[in-house]
Amino acid sequence: MKYFLDSAKMDEIKEAYETFGIDGVTTNPNHIMLSGKPFKTAIQDMADWAKEQGFKDYNDFPISVEVNPHLETAEEMMAMAREIAKVSPCFVIKIPCTEAGCEAARKLEKEGIRVNLTLVFSPAQALFAGKYGCKFVSPFIGWKEANGEDCKQYIEDIVDIYANYGFLGETEIIGAAIRTPKQFVDCAVAGVDCVTAGLAVYKDAMHHPYTNQGMDKFTNAWDNTAEN
Ligand code: E4P
Repeated sequence: MKYFLDSAKMDEIKEAYETFGIDGVTTNPNHIMLSGKPFKTAIQDMADWAKEQGFKDYNDFPISVEVNPHLETAEEMMAMAREIAKVSPCFVIKIPCTEAGCEAARKLEKEGIRVNLTLVFSPAQALFAGKYGCKFVSPFIGWKEANGEDCKQYIEDIVDIYANYGFLGETEIIGAAIRTPKQFVDCAVAGVDCVTAGLAVYKDAMHHPYTNQGMDKFTNAWDNTAEN
C-alpha cells in the first residue's frame, strides 16, 4: 500500500519523506491555504523539491494538485489542468467528481494528462474514474466516518467493483482523508492501492503504548545487566 501525505506544507512533506518514506503527496485548496503561500508559489515549491529529489514523473512520486473549485465547465477545468501539468512531470491533476469534472477527467486522460478524481463519496462515483482510466480515484473516508458512517463496506465495494472490471492497477484507489490508524487498517484489509493522511496520523499509526512500555522495560533490564 502506498503512503501519500495530505499536505502542501514543505516542512511536513520533507519530514514525512525522511521519516516514513512517503510515496507521494496529495493536496487540495484547503491544504494550499494552510501552507500560507499563494497557489502558484506552493505548487512551484513542491515541484522544485520533487526535482531536487530526482523524481522523474508521477510514476516515481505523484503530487496531486487540484483545480480552482470556482471553475464550472469542463473546458475551464481542462485549461487550468494543462497549466498545472506544465509545472512538474510529477503533477497529477485533481478534478472533482461532478458532471463537468467527469467530462474534463475523461478528456484530460485522453490527452495524456493524468487525473485524480476527487471528492468521491460512493462506489457509483468511483466507477467513473475506472471507466475513464484516471490515474487515481480518491474515495473520502475520514469525512464520512466523522459523520457517523462506517466505511468498511464502501471501501470493499470499490475494490470489488474495480476487480470485476479490470480497473485494479489501472486506476489506483486512494483511501483519502484518513484520520485514524484503524482507517489505515480497513483500507489495507480491503486492498486499496494507496492511502493519504496528514503527518499526525502517520505518527499515531507508528506508535503503540506497549512499544513504549517495552522500551522502558528493556532499558531498565539493559541498565541492570551484570557487567563482565
Ligand atoms: C485527498 O486527496 C483529499 O484532498 C484529502 O484526503 C482530504 O483531506 P482533508 O480532509 O485533510 O482536506
